[in-house]
Amino acid sequence: MSRFPSLRPRRMPGLAAGGSGVFAVAFALALALLCAALAPRPVWAADLVVYSGRGERFTEPVIQAFRKKTGIATQALVADTTALLTRLEEEGDRTEADVFLTNYAGMLDLARQKGLLQPYRSAHVSNVPKEFHGPDDMWIAGSARARVIVYNKALVDPKKVRSMADIARPEWDGKLGITISSNASFIGGVAAMIKQDGEDKVRRFLAGIKRNAGDRVYPSHTPVISAVARGEIALGLVNHYYFYRALAAEPNAPIGIIFPDQDTTGAVTTITGLGITRHARHAAAARQFVDFVLSDEGQKIFAEVNFEFPVNPHVERDPALPKPGTVKFAPVSQALQTEAIDRAVELIRAEGMQ
Ligand SMILES: [Fe+2]
Repeated sequence: MSRFPSLRPRRMPGLAAGGSGVFAVAFALALALLCAALAPRPVWAADLVVYSGRGERFTEPVIQAFRKKTGIATQALVADTTALLTRLEEEGDRTEADVFLTNYAGMLDLARQKGLLQPYRSAHVSNVPKEFHGPDDMWIAGSARARVIVYNKALVDPKKVRSMADIARPEWDGKLGITISSNASFIGGVAAMIKQDGEDKVRRFLAGIKRNAGDRVYPSHTPVISAVARGEIALGLVNHYYFYRALAAEPNAPIGIIFPDQDTTGAVTTITGLGITRHARHAAAARQFVDFVLSDEGQKIFAEVNFEFPVNPHVERDPALPKPGTVKFAPVSQALQTEAIDRAVELIRAEGMQ
């Protein structure tokens, strides 16, 4: 029986790795299909199922490490976060998902508001600053991402760009690159700024960066950084890890990073995070998974796969990142920030941004 025909796991551990030849694999596949056709069993043959809106290359290393450590057969369905949330809602109490993992606090909190999550307070939660906790322990951040400014070293004196407000100043007219405003991190950053600075300041900021960017509005962060590296634009507004990724790929790229507002409020952040689904069939395993992600070992993997900041400040971070204590983050509650998302979208629309 196949209740959710499109919901097949991407990987069947042990099946492809057997090494007993093409025929054995084909036979096993045929058998699996036959069993699936005959028996009314769940689509997932796993003891823990994670719906992940985080890319496969970031999700899989965590899943693998968890599987190795606990022996719990864990599988992930990796898809667009919004699609996963819709699916979770449609599936209701029939869902196979035990954990909902996202790269966007807004989606996680929407799941909470729709009653799709259940509370869990991991023993490791005390290591995580409270601004990274979801309401009522319904979700928790796994890693943090700073909104930063990337600059071309030949075109910009970084001393002149200290704050987010600086990239909205007229002197950068035609010299700034941004992503399309529907980008989740763009919206998350604006929502954080609303909570941090108030709406008037955010309106001025949006009007300024819209003018400065003109038609230099890119589909995602990577092309913003490429354009900065080529000197087509002087500055770009991005998530910090895209800078470190670009530098890892091209160590001599003439780009630098500015963590803004260090003298005042600190850089605004967005998060990745996770929660246990309300109808989890494997709630105990799901709790173990949350524990693992928040443990020193899990934090290291979870953050390092993408140059992100661990939410446990004691965990060692990727050596390419600034040392702990050298960068200040705005202490805006991620939960409060999600409340401002609708307003952020309204302000962005009112400004007529692409
Ligand atoms: Fe991203």
